[in-house]
Amino acid sequence: MGYDIAHRGRLSHYGSAERKRFTSSLKKIRSDTDLLLEDIEAYHIYMAAKITEKVPGDIAEVGVYKGGSAKIICSAKGNRALHLFDTFAGLPRVDDVDAVWPFYEGKFAASYDEVKAYLASEKNVHLYKGLFPDTSAPVTDKKFSFVNLDVDTYDSTKKCLEFFYPRMSPGGVIVSHDYLTAPGVRKAVDEYFANKPEPVVETAASQCIVVKV
Ligand SMILES: C[S@@+](CC[C@H](N)C(=O)[O-])C[C@H]1O[C@@H](n2cnc3c(N)ncnc32)[C@H](O)[C@@H]1O
Repeated sequence: MGYDIAHRGRLSHYGSAERKRFTSSLKKIRSDTDLLLEDIEAYHIYMAAKITEKVPGDIAEVGVYKGGSAKIICSAKGNRALHLFDTFAGLPRVDDVDAVWPFYEGKFAASYDEVKAYLASEKNVHLYKGLFPDTSAPVTDKKFSFVNLDVDTYDSTKKCLEFFYPRMSPGGVIVSHDYLTAPGVRKAVDEYFANKPEPVVETAASQCIVVKV
């Protein structure tokens, strides 16, 4: 990524016991696996998973990599099902609009078996290997309370939004990583929400957050 994510976006505690607990569990996740998120981005995902517990629907993540962000979601999801999608062969097609950093087809390849083992102790977690949305058949009839997108490119982000937005329950939250740092992601999000009622909230890190009306 070109910079040391573990040392950026450090979360301020303001005396919050929950934030302190979160920071120490994040430290453990960072030591167990390679997490591609800043601390405050990780906290946004944790919070979105937690606050949507009252919203009907499952949780999904597209862009699992080594399972670090999925582990964070597991710590806050309660009994909800978590559906995890990744090629496990890294990024698929990369278009000109995505040509920032060294983004290339196959970047972020990870082992399906290792991720499965890493998340084995978590309840109600389902892993789907392959190109999304080709792998979406098992969840086409589901509603979602929280969706975390971390797919880096225009084409993948566009297809994820087309699939998940109509399936979000009112009050459900979509978070996308790299809204600031990947022009393809920003373009896909901005185009998709241009004619939708929901505002796209740019965070102080590199994510955007949308709450379904
Ligand atoms: C930056 S990594 C995800 C990082 C992870 N969320 C974390 O926080 O550690 C991006 C991932 O998106 C996956 N990906 C991108 N487009 C995809 C698609 N259309 N279907 C499945 N996986 C995709 C890649 O395989 C890669 O593992």
